Amino acid sequence: MSISDARARSAELRELLNRALIAYHVEDDPVMSDAAYDVLYDELVALEVQHPKLVTGDSPTQRVGAPPSAKFQKVRHLSPMGSLDKVTTDESLHKWADDIRKRLGTDEAVAFVLEPKIDGSAINLLYENGRFTRGATRGDGVQGEDVTPNLRTIGAIPLQMQDKSPPPVLEVRGEVYMPLAGFREFNERLAAEGKAPAPNPRNAAAGSLRQKDPNITAQRPLSIWVYGTGHREGVDYLESHWDTLQWLRERGFRTNPFAERVESIDDVAERCRAWELRRVELDYEIDGLVIKVDSYDQQRRLGALHERPRWARAFKWAPMTAVTRLNKILIRVGRTGALNPWAVLEPVEVGGVTISRATLHNEEDINRKDIREGDDVIVQRAGDVIPQIVGPAGRHRRGTKPFAMPTHCPLCGVEVVKPEGEVMHRCPNKACPSRGLESLNNWVMAAADIDGVGEQTVRRLWELELVRSIPELYRLTAEQLLEVEGFGEISAGNAVAAIEASKEISFSRVLYGLNIPDVGWVTAQTLARHFGNVDALMNATQEELVEAEGIGPERAEALAEWFRDEDNRRLVEELRDLGLRFETGEEARQVEGPLTGRTYVITGTLERFTREEAAERLEALGAKVGNSVSSKTTGLVVGEDPGKSKLTKAEKTGVAQLTEADLLELLGGG
Ligand code: IVH
Repeated sequence: MSISDARARSAELRELLNRALIAYHVEDDPVMSDAAYDVLYDELVALEVQHPKLVTGDSPTQRVGAPPSAKFQKVRHLSPMGSLDKVTTDESLHKWADDIRKRLGTDEAVAFVLEPKIDGSAINLLYENGRFTRGATRGDGVQGEDVTPNLRTIGAIPLQMQDKSPPPVLEVRGEVYMPLAGFREFNERLAAEGKAPAPNPRNAAAGSLRQKDPNITAQRPLSIWVYGTGHREGVDYLESHWDTLQWLRERGFRTNPFAERVESIDDVAERCRAWELRRVELDYEIDGLVIKVDSYDQQRRLGALHERPRWARAFKWAPMTAVTRLNKILIRVGRTGALNPWAVLEPVEVGGVTISRATLHNEEDINRKDIREGDDVIVQRAGDVIPQIVGPAGRHRRGTKPFAMPTHCPLCGVEVVKPEGEVMHRCPNKACPSRGLESLNNWVMAAADIDGVGEQTVRRLWELELVRSIPELYRLTAEQLLEVEGFGEISAGNAVAAIEASKEISFSRVLYGLNIPDVGWVTAQTLARHFGNVDALMNATQEELVEAEGIGPERAEALAEWFRDEDNRRLVEELRDLGLRFETGEEARQVEGPLTGRTYVITGTLERFTREEAAERLEALGAKVGNSVSSKTTGLVVGEDPGKSKLTKAEKTGVAQLTEADLLELLGGG
């Protein structure tokens, strides 16, 4: 190939590849397969190796391979990078709007643009005649550090603006961030290498940008949201921030799709409230919203004070991650014998809520994350209620021992087992007191949902040995209840009446409350509906059991075994004598409703309901709620910590995934 042909071909390849990167990263609409990209990329590399002179700054091959630099050069931004004043309440937001009105001195309309405030690392990208020539961190706002080679490795940053006649000089500003999924993986990788995890995605992003070797930055899952410009020449026709965002997007920059233009400060306030709940749905961390006066003319007239524009504010929320001491790992034995570890934390505020405990999943998970008693740990509130421990907060550790599950049940002392293929350890002792307490709790709080009797009361009744089984609960008298602190004549009488009234609960609820291994809410309902009464269920053969929806041979065997047990049969008889329902009534018939014909599966922990409540509400509208995802499933409702197999199955079969917000909508609002 002649040099001129090579030049033409390499220009064409650069163009094609850069287009493809924008389509992939910015437009979310790939124009070629990864394989096709690789073929073209390799062709370009070959041409550049043969003719090194053809290498240009905007060649996609220049995104990696730059040599490590000893030190970052300081560079001056063409126009300073300011900062934002904060507002945290509705009131201060309105005060700001009043101030704007006063300063403008007219009653002209003021429109605002709202954008997520990305919790990452601010950067300034310089484009000269459309080409990315330099990128720097914010630094002190006047001078930053030149991290151009590192920024080049981020696929979402265009090396060439998509513009036939680009402006001669343009500073583009944005936030480099690490998506949450990438952040989790990154931390797992660090843990596997025995390194301290990054405390939050912001640190991870900032640290990645300040790597001396761009090849390391290239391996970090970084992206960017572009939110404005700095110094600009030749773009006087842009008259508002909103227009600028559209303009940037058309030129290949990744602007946030949730940016929104609103006409009043009341709308701004409403969005700030709504977003505080919605923020957990994003796959990157935001710590607030940025609110900007849209019109450039108004921005100019409002001006700035010490590089803090009067035309913009940051509406901030409390951060969702914090560092605190993990004092102890305790074990709770669940109602079916599973040993659930949980963390006792030094109380710490996360996202506006004080947290003193966190769930830990199982031994394997604790050790994979290298979580140890006595260490400082990073706590993260995801899904908005259940705090998680991300990992240890530093290399400097107090906890020296990796965590190990107790070999014997902490309550009854019986040796624990870990059935093959399971991640949970279990106490096999059916008579284990903790198990009894948990099942009693499950009966009171979930199955029978008894008003006026809470977890504390159940615990006290247990400790006083007044109630140690479900039948004993129904024999409890008001006089006995008076022994429990907090109860007076009236509340004791009410509680006993509520306990008595709970005898009316449906057969499926009774079944659920019996603590049969693996019989959750959905299975209990299936069984109640399928068998109609407890005798049919109790005497069913294995073959008959598997005929019920969602019951496989293993569950069938476990069920049969449970009903063969003398103690369990006695429990059923005792409860039946006490007047509880052991047959299906009218209420269990499938209702007709707007969701009739649809089947949902629920996985993970929801914030506003228990899974059982969610199932009940879906069923009340006519939907079926199943246990496992199949091609017949209409949608999978995904909560916090969802089951992997259900997710994978949903992805494979193309079953729609619903967030809790989608579920709420389906149920017709809050
Ligand atoms: S506009 C005059 N928009 O928040 C400053 N900033 O103090 C104008 N940030 O470090 C900044 N998301 O990096 C703006 N959508 C957004 C933003 C955003 C995050 C960061 C920015 C800066 C800090 C503001």
